Amino acid sequence: MTPVIMKTVLVAFHSRTGHTAEVAQNIAAGLNADMEQLREAEVRAYFRAGLDALLGRTCDLAGSITSPGNYDLVVLGTPVWAMNLPPPMRSYIVEHAGELPKVAFFCTEGGGGGNRVFGQMARLCGKSPLATLEVTEPEMKSGTSESKIKGFIDALSQKLAD
Ligand SMILES: Cc1cc2nc3c(=O)[nH]c(=O)nc-3n(C[C@H](O)[C@H](O)[C@H](O)COP(=O)(O)O)c2cc1C
Repeated sequence: MTPVIMKTVLVAFHSRTGHTAEVAQNIAAGLNADMEQLREAEVRAYFRAGLDALLGRTCDLAGSITSPGNYDLVVLGTPVWAMNLPPPMRSYIVEHAGELPKVAFFCTEGGGGGNRVFGQMARLCGKSPLATLEVTEPEMKSGTSESKIKGFIDALSQKLAD
């Protein structure tokens, strides 16, 4: 049985076409978490988006951002772009690395690159994630992502209860 969580959780995510947002909503519902959607101040064209991810560039984020330091756990979610971490999530981590509590990572992707992106996120955060979740587009289409997402929520619930 999933333990009741008394800790505060934030799901901070970037999503360009909605996949990561969908997973973020499921995770937030399962962990009773707040959500923070990271938006680029200037949306890049597809090629530019991939190139900037490949080159490890940051970008300006739109709007005001809640401090992640107010939470016990921050779950960071991002798509994979050109096998790399997209600029919006890179910028968020770079700007808030010093305030981050415990972290967990998830990504959505066409087919690969998640592990590489998780490594980049851990290096930027300066800490290892409590858990990771990699979801592919075919898994989302077939519905097999649901059990993976539930496993991720259960693992984090357990770790927060420890
Ligand atoms: C610029 C760009 C580059 C991408 N590069 C990759 C990639 O290297 N590997 C991969 O599996 N998917 C890649 N994708 C597909 C996205 O990771 C995938 O569609 C993801 O679920 C999108 O999430 P979103 O709908 O939340 O934006 C790329 C998408 C974009 C827009």
